[in-house]
Amino acid sequence: MSLYSREYRRSIDQPEVFWAEQAKRLPWTTMPRTMLSYDDQGHARWYPDGELNLCHAALDHHVEQGRGDQAAVLWDSPVTGSRRRLSYVELRDRVARFAGALKGLGVEKGDRVIIYMPMVPEALIAMLACARLGAVHSVVFGGFAPHELAVRIEDAEPRVVVAASCGVEVDRVLPYKPIVDAAIEQSAYKPDACIVLQREQCRAELEARDHDWASLEAGAAPAACVPVKATDPLYVLYTSGTTGKPKGVVRDTGGYGVALHYSMEAIYDMAPGEVFFSASDVGWVVGHSYIVYGPLLRGCTTVVYEGKPVRTPDAGAFWRLIAEYRVKAFFTAPTAFRAIKKEDPDGTLLREYDVSSLKALFLAGERLDPPTFHWLEDLLEVPVIDHWWQTETGWPIAANLQGLEPMPVKAGSATVSVPGFDVRILDREGHDAPALEQGSVVIKQPLPPGCLTGIWRDPRRFHAAYMAAYPGYYLTGDAGYLDEDGYLFIMGRTDDVINVAGHRLSTGEMEEVVGGHPAVAECAVIGIHDALKGQVPVGLVIPKDGFDGSEVDLERELIARVRDIIGPVACFKQVLVVDRLPKTRSGKILRKLLRHMADGQEYGVPSTIDDPASLSDVHEAMKARSLGSADQARQR
Ligand code: COA
Ligand code: AMP
Repeated sequence: MSLYSREYRRSIDQPEVFWAEQAKRLPWTTMPRTMLSYDDQGHARWYPDGELNLCHAALDHHVEQGRGDQAAVLWDSPVTGSRRRLSYVELRDRVARFAGALKGLGVEKGDRVIIYMPMVPEALIAMLACARLGAVHSVVFGGFAPHELAVRIEDAEPRVVVAASCGVEVDRVLPYKPIVDAAIEQSAYKPDACIVLQREQCRAELEARDHDWASLEAGAAPAACVPVKATDPLYVLYTSGTTGKPKGVVRDTGGYGVALHYSMEAIYDMAPGEVFFSASDVGWVVGHSYIVYGPLLRGCTTVVYEGKPVRTPDAGAFWRLIAEYRVKAFFTAPTAFRAIKKEDPDGTLLREYDVSSLKALFLAGERLDPPTFHWLEDLLEVPVIDHWWQTETGWPIAANLQGLEPMPVKAGSATVSVPGFDVRILDREGHDAPALEQGSVVIKQPLPPGCLTGIWRDPRRFHAAYMAAYPGYYLTGDAGYLDEDGYLFIMGRTDDVINVAGHRLSTGEMEEVVGGHPAVAECAVIGIHDALKGQVPVGLVIPKDGFDGSEVDLERELIARVRDIIGPVACFKQVLVVDRLPKTRSGKILRKLLRHMADGQEYGVPSTIDDPASLSDVHEAMKARSLGSADQARQR
């Protein structure tokens, strides 16, 4: 039996023994004696009698162990022309003082704090300061519009909002403060205070509720770490579901810390003192787990990058960072490499840098498409690892475990189940599907440490969304299959979630926004293939009877509406006006069929279709936009 197989079997057959060993790697204030218990709904609760503080485990502990002078954060911001190095001692001290500032504003254990910031070290400081106090942070990605922020403020009811005055994109400065003000205005719930990090690119006007970050931090006394129960929430991270209301994924503290620490070793093969670079954003789960908590819990150095894979200034940006900071493991989404490949197809810029420190490249967030995989494999001399996970699980479900036992890579596969995750493929009836047969990818309960423990204030939705479909199993929402060697192939979502440039978005939510326009009678939003972003949304709308405006204006208004309500991150840029939409006789829009039509794939017409002639309407509209032919992605 291979090393991996032995470890995997032990994690599934004796989960409590396995995770008891891993728990010893963290500095607890009270070591757990019970490893696993279940709540009244039958969901796993790891380490229920353990207590710790994750900020202590990520910072103070390393300082105590003699890592104080080592770099904790290396910030590199080509968009502002700045860099900064923060040692573990410096980061701990700034976090402690900022925690003191939050405390001064009344933030206590259990209170929520919303963080709306770009990729600056202060975003990490704010997160860790919350963890220090036992407060629950909720980071919102900067590409979301005021409405999305307002929805999260209403749901999380934060005592304080922490923001930056602006974000800086490739070619422009984006003021954040007006977005925060508009969101608070729209929200029925009002936070007590807003802390603003003033950036020189665009200073914000401060009002009565606002506090200047710098003066607050300068005047604050350092706060001590507050031990919390392992099962207490560390953060709530909102993610797209099938409806307009995002799901507040609740992450616990102890199980998450143990799982991340394990993953840093077993999956990423990282040792203390080594440099980890995850090119994502703190607004996403990748940022939470592998820019902030994972690397710091393991005593590594984390690279925090405020820039893009291309255009800041060129497609060699990642190679430069890897070379300059001697990065050992690098993690990003495949879309970033598709962008690089487009600008530098021969990898000429790579040759300008010494990337010999790099030992493995990890990709996730969307499927690693075989052309991108092969391009990278040919270019680099290190393993190119696709690994699969989601906001809900908080860490990889399937991977090629570089620190345990590297395995041969198969293009298109995320390799094997990570120890702790009992991954199964079920058919419609809930039976195990045979090898190579596609089905619903589920995880047999109990979920390992680190996975979501609920949906914020909505236990019914938690159950309905994840646990109800197949009792005893967690529904991932992905379809896929296992091959004869146990390699997992993830083939796409089974719900209305789409993946645009590695960002998870809900077409259901976009439909609600499009359908809310006064001229729209009915609509469907589908995700279609895009050569760069993986998928992009396209709207199909039926105008109301009597609509006499121009289609061009309607399209422009709908695009602006989605941008205003959801945000630029939605990438909603195309609307087709049609007379009819294909539906079943029971009135369900045939979205999958529309998707296949738009992607130029073969499609069968179901016998349940109500009006087969509706297909020619849609076909014409698609043809007019060059959708539906095999090379449409390139033409667009
Ligand atoms: N704050 C404000 N606006 C933001 C933003 C932020 N943090 N991030 C993105 N946006 C805006 C962009 O400016 C863009 O606006 P535009 O329509 O006015 O141009 C829009 O949101 C869409 O952004 P994006 O999808 O990122 O497109 P892009 O063309 O700017 O960049 C990639 C494309 C592929 C280079 C980029 O998406 C990327 O680097 N992706 C990496 C994947 C990643 O980080 N995934 C996270 C999970 S691993
Ligand atoms: P998020 O919650 O934003 O991380 O998105 C999670 C979803 O992205 C998953 O449910 C998958 O649909 C998709 N995804 C993430 N990583 C991969 C991968 N390596 N292969 C295929 N799909 C992926």
